[in-house]
Formats: sequence, structure tokens, C-alpha cells
Amino acid sequence: MDDVIKIRGKRKLKGEVTVSSCKNSVVAILPSVVLASEIVKLYDVPDIKDVQILIKLLEKLNIKVNADGDELLIDPTGIRNVDLLDEDVMKLRASYYFMGALLGRFKHVKMYSPGGCNLGPRPIDLHLKGFEALGAKIRQDGNIIEIDADELTGDDIYLDFASVGATINIMLAACFARGRTTIENAAKEPEIIDLSSMLNKMGAQIRGAGTSEITINGISRLKGCIHDIIPDRIEAGTYIIAAAACGEDVTVRNVIPQHIEALTSKLEEMGVKLEQGSDYVRVFEAGKLKAVDIITQPFPGFATDLQQPLTALMTRAEGDSHVEETIYVDRFRHCNELNLMGANIETGSGKSVIHGPSELHGADISATDLRCGASLVIAGLMADGETVIHNAYHIYRGYESIVEKLRAIGADIE
Ligand code: EPZ
Repeated sequence: MDDVIKIRGKRKLKGEVTVSSCKNSVVAILPSVVLASEIVKLYDVPDIKDVQILIKLLEKLNIKVNADGDELLIDPTGIRNVDLLDEDVMKLRASYYFMGALLGRFKHVKMYSPGGCNLGPRPIDLHLKGFEALGAKIRQDGNIIEIDADELTGDDIYLDFASVGATINIMLAACFARGRTTIENAAKEPEIIDLSSMLNKMGAQIRGAGTSEITINGISRLKGCIHDIIPDRIEAGTYIIAAAACGEDVTVRNVIPQHIEALTSKLEEMGVKLEQGSDYVRVFEAGKLKAVDIITQPFPGFATDLQQPLTALMTRAEGDSHVEETIYVDRFRHCNELNLMGANIETGSGKSVIHGPSELHGADISATDLRCGASLVIAGLMADGETVIHNAYHIYRGYESIVEKLRAIGADIE
């Protein structure tokens, strides 16, 4: 289905926008319910495509999911470890968290390998190395993966790269492993802390989430719990950048400022005027903006998910801005779309140079992945005339009610 978003740009944005709960937290939390032996209640679950797909996969495992508004009541007591050979598995990369959870609970999992955004090669070698360290045997036949373990025994696991997915998947597989597991060079993203705090409420013994060394002491079962998911720092950053691009006075609510310090300090360096409260960021009308340089890093460095949205803003900065991508070296497909709108961006070998300022004009463009789509929405808000964004379904995967939220602060969007 070719969802299309149309934007007539150059409207001044004004008012308040509230951020939803974190996509990259909830897509790990939902599969982790496989580990629970009692009912789990989740508050503020965002109504996005990825959540809908993961709920279908939970139900395939005979886990009952009752949605009451944005609350989910999940009953895993009737769980059956069926093979997840379902094309839904390939619609999002986060489906691979079922590997760690089902291996951890049942010592067996058979499922398709994951899909998700096409950001270049996205291997799962670090996940599989972690599972093997715990005693699992892995068989791959085409894109079907089967993982078995007679016994899961804690071990010291060193991650060659601070991979978010591998850190989470090993945490899930290690919950019931005998003895102690340590993950060295673990990723420190806030989503990992959020998952760890939920699992600990259920009786897990996980220490050190948010640092580069996480220890998990194996236990025998996990109770249920009630959990309130953290706000989405990438959605927050996206709206803050949109407000910096064409805002008059916009307050972005439900924000944890510590989660987006790399972005807000970079925006201030550009000359954006921000006011930060305990749970909001207020953005005032920006005048001339200065070109800046960013290098994407694992948290707390500059988030790779925000380099694409920031690139749209950089098109109006005075001078040459430089982006270096160290996480996904070919995460630059938004640049040729932005160039169709009048931007002047050169890309090559994991880097881009944005020559500014350039006046953007509306165009017929396509989203290639979730954050590319976000960057095109921001460019559409800035551009003179009408922008038509095709393949907008990418955007709905991670931005709940984005059209309604932007319209509510004055955007001319449908
Ligand atoms: C998570 O992906 C996020 N997705 C991504 O957000 C985010 O960009 C990324 O972390 C980095 O912050 C979810 O949380 C669902 P990684 P993940 O494992 O876990 C390489 C979005 O827009 N790698 O930290 O896949 C990998 O190829 C999405 O919301 C290996 O080589 O990220 C990549 O280059 C996009 N082997 C780099 O590490 C592995 O076994 C980052 O991967 C695992 C990863």
C-alpha cells in the first residue's frame, strides 16, 4: 500500500506536542513477556505498526493480549512454543528478541531471521555468539534459524561492538541460565535500562544496565508486573528538530532531557534557542543557524536515528555541515530525496557534507526507511510549496499519530 503524506510547507509551528512511549523499548518489552509466568500490564503502549505486529506474534504463541486504550494486559500463562515461521517476523528487526526470550524460557526456538529497515547489512552475529557462549547450538537453513540448548549456563560475554540488540537478546537468554552471566562492552541505551528495570520487577537479577558491564544472575521463574514505558527519545528529538526548523514557539512534552543531551547541545551549538524543564523541551523561533558537525555513536553519543532528521535542518544552516555515520555506514538514502527538494548534499564512504543554506521547495519524494521518512517530513515542513512523501508506511512504524500531532501545532499536512 503506498501511503502518502502531503505537506504544504512554510507554516510556523506553535503550541504543544506530546511524545509517545518509546518504540525501541516496547519492541523489546513485548517479546520479553515470553519469560513471564504471570500477567504483565503495560501502560502507554504506542499504537504503531511494529507493536501491532509483535502482538500478533505473541498471540501465535497462545499468549493472550487485551488492549484497553493504550494499556495492554498480557497473559502468558497459556504459552506454547510454536515455531515462528510467519512472514510477520520478517517485517521488523525487533522480532529477533523472540530468539533470546524463547531460548531463555524453553531452551529451544525455531523462527525466521528478522527483517526491518534496509540500512545496509544488519547481521546478528553478536547475538548468536552470545547464545553459543551460554551453551546453545545454532542451525541456520536459509532464513530459518533453530537454536537449542540442553542447559543454559552463565558466562562472561564480550561484545565486539556495543550492539543494542545483542545486549538485549543476551539479557533475555541469560535470565534463567545457571549462575552468573556478564556482558562486557554492553550497549548503554535508555531502552536497555527500561527493559532491565521491568525484568527486575518480575524477579530477575540484572545489574548494571546503562553501563558497559551488565551482570545477570540466573533465577528459575519470572512473576508478572505493571510497567510504564519510558518516553521515545528519538520521537522527541524529531519534533524538537522540526520545531527548530520552522517553529515559532513549540513545547515538546514527555521528554527525559538526559536522553537527548547530544542533540540539544548540538542544536544550541547551531544557534537554536531551547528551554529545558524536567520533562519538556521548549523551542523558540530560530534565526540564522550555524553549520555544525556530528559523528554518530552508541548512547550517550549522537544517536544514529537522529542524524537523518538533523540533516534536514542542516540544509538551512550557513556553511558546510559534516555528518559521519559510524553505526550504519550507508544510512544516507534520505540525502538524494532532500537534494530533489533543492538541498545541496554530497555523500560518500559513511559521510555526508551539507552545503547550506539552501531554500527547499516541495517535491514528489519517497521514504526509504523510518528515520529517512522523518527527515523528509521535516524538509516538507520547511519547503516552499507542496511535498508528497510516498511509502509513508515506513514513518507510521515509529511515529504514533504523526499527522495529527503536527497538524495540532499548525502544520498543513494530510
Ligand atoms: C537498534 O537497532 C535500534 N532498533 C535502531 O533503531 C538503532 O538505530 C540502533 O539500535 C542503534 O542505536 C531497535 O531498537 C529495534 P545495533 P539494532 O545492534 O539493535 C551492527 C530505528 O530507526 N551489528 O546496535 O539492530 C549492525 O549491523 C532503528 O528505530 C553487527 O554487526 O542496532 C549495525 O551496523 C533503526 N552484528 C550496528 O552494529 C550484530 O550482531 C548497530 O547495531 C548486531 C549489530
